Amino acid sequence: MAFAWFPFYILLFGLLYSDLWAVEHLIVGGQNAAEGDAPYQVSLQTPLGSHLCGGAIISDRWIITAGHCVKGYPASRLRVATGTIRYTAPGALYYPDALYLHCNYDSPKYHNDIGLLHLNESISFNALTQAVGLPTSSLPRGASELVFTGWGAQSAAGALPTLMQLVQQQHLSFQACKSLLTAYEDLELGPCHICAYRQANTGACHGDSGGPLVHQGTLVGILNFFVPCAQGVPDIFMDVMYYRDWMRQTMSGNGKCAQVNQQTITG
Ligand SMILES: *[C@@H]1O[C@H](CO)[C@@H](O)[C@H](O)[C@H]1NC(C)=O
Repeated sequence: MAFAWFPFYILLFGLLYSDLWAVEHLIVGGQNAAEGDAPYQVSLQTPLGSHLCGGAIISDRWIITAGHCVKGYPASRLRVATGTIRYTAPGALYYPDALYLHCNYDSPKYHNDIGLLHLNESISFNALTQAVGLPTSSLPRGASELVFTGWGAQSAAGALPTLMQLVQQQHLSFQACKSLLTAYEDLELGPCHICAYRQANTGACHGDSGGPLVHQGTLVGILNFFVPCAQGVPDIFMDVMYYRDWMRQTMSGNGKCAQVNQQTITG
């Protein structure tokens, strides 16, 4: 007698659903991270500790982020806060001695927005500070439970939250993605992109750039493009799998497609 239960399920679903919508949407629409969530997440900061961008630890000496987060910076103008869900209270601070920007950064527009930071000291790993796994195959189409984290603003004009925010997103096909991004005709999506979305009022905002999108413990995306903020359009990430060769070559010192900035500024 399955049918007898049908209205009950609708009622139950309706209650749960309305409850979800009632949650105070604070990223935009995320929830506070708990201590130890996203131990790979870093805050890229100015020397005085202002948060600029997100990033992820991929080894004891390397941080990955978006290209536009390192473009034009001397290495000495950035520091990396690790091991914390409060960017104002770093577990530890590390300093890059070289920044690597993809040689075809933003060419075509919104493509190859990827950068690496080499640290002058090895990161000490602990429960709150860990490297994220790197992908060995493409993200399954339609994958849900993509975890995006960051200290980006909670509204377009809003201040940065002190506590890291966490949001779950879902992979979207390019077709579905483009149909939601019709107002952005100059945005050409290619195989280097991943599109992720959950619902309006949920998604990336200022300060989230360069932040990690993670699927089952594996880093799949780096935040590239978003429409400020969470206005019902998907967030666009660089596909980490697509850049695995570039990363390998750059990290081994054999990269021929990276601009290196080791410039230091004193004072
Ligand atoms: C790394 O760089 C920072 C900032 O310039 C400096 O204070 C620190 O001593 C350096 N560490 C090493 C091992 O060179």
